[in-house]
Amino acid sequence: MNTTITLLPGDGIGPEVVAEGRKVLETVAAQFGHTFTFTEALIGGIAIDEMGDPLPDESLAVCDASQAVLLGAVGGPKWSDPRAPVRPEQGLLRLRKELGLFANLRPVTVAPALMDASPLRADVVRGVDLLIVRELTGGLYFGRPQGRSDDETGRAAVDTLRYTEAEIERLMRVAFDLARQRRKKVTSVDKANVLASSRLWREVAHEVARDYADVEYEDLLVDACAMHLIRRPADFDVIATENMFGDILSDEASMLAGSLGMLPSASLGSKPPGVYEPIHGTAPDIAGRGIANPLATILSVAMLLRSGLRLAEEAAAVEQAVEAVLAAGYRTADLASPGQPTVSTQAMGDMVAAAIESSSK
Ligand code: IPM
Ligand code: MG
Repeated sequence: MNTTITLLPGDGIGPEVVAEGRKVLETVAAQFGHTFTFTEALIGGIAIDEMGDPLPDESLAVCDASQAVLLGAVGGPKWSDPRAPVRPEQGLLRLRKELGLFANLRPVTVAPALMDASPLRADVVRGVDLLIVRELTGGLYFGRPQGRSDDETGRAAVDTLRYTEAEIERLMRVAFDLARQRRKKVTSVDKANVLASSRLWREVAHEVARDYADVEYEDLLVDACAMHLIRRPADFDVIATENMFGDILSDEASMLAGSLGMLPSASLGSKPPGVYEPIHGTAPDIAGRGIANPLATILSVAMLLRSGLRLAEEAAAVEQAVEAVLAAGYRTADLASPGQPTVSTQAMGDMVAAAIESSSK
């Protein structure tokens, strides 16, 4: 199989973690007899610096022509002046919109070896296996009007939370279809006691639920969901929600897994390419120091293999390699307990690659 994969390293620790993702893909290619062709393209702050545009048309074209996209992260203090005319994050949002990536899958599981890395007690996080299905191309991120609306009374700004029934329905169908392959439970999260968009969300979600009588369904208000994620996280299976609630809840849920550095994601539309990326950001405080955790990116590579390239065996090999390396006690700084020795970003990637090689021999 000859496959083209676009790499979008982006900013901060993005290039460091994507390099390890590529290393793992190259190892998989060698071990399983595939040919992956990589093309690197610019996105985010570095694209603003070099091209004046956070997603140059060339980058979008390269992504569009490939089978899958592996992305690092975008943004950083250099570009975060609130008065700047253009921001790195706009590149990521445009990429999601242009590729039609309306469903963002964020699985959260707790590696047995990391049970003690979570700030929550082991008996709370044991058995956690949930999947956040976040709507990704609607809601507050894209609603218009958006922007400053200063008037004679002073400064003001507006964002718009708008959803159409079609947007809600297609997201809920993805959530229910995925639940059928899992523990058959969907929790739809909204703020229907306050927001009109959430009342439509709930109405449409109930209509879709009727087509999935075999799947258990519940509604939960977002504030209550934030609480239950800490109190009884193992009860959740699929959590379906709108764009910004999903952004916030997924960072919260990452703490169940011990570190934001562990969580992968897949952003999917109705056709390839999907975009696979760690949910963490650019971590400017540690960028360039070779200490970032590459496992969220490596686990995103597993999602890329499984859902982007339909290579289930290869995906499982990557996931098992990660488990094995953690079980052997290797930790990047974010995962280590005080006094525990740590390994670098590169060493972690090397170790996962070596574990793939030894398991598929
Ligand atoms: C994420 C990030 C992005 C988002 C930012 C960088 C625009 O936080 O993927 O969760 O809010 O979607
Ligand atoms: Mg986020």
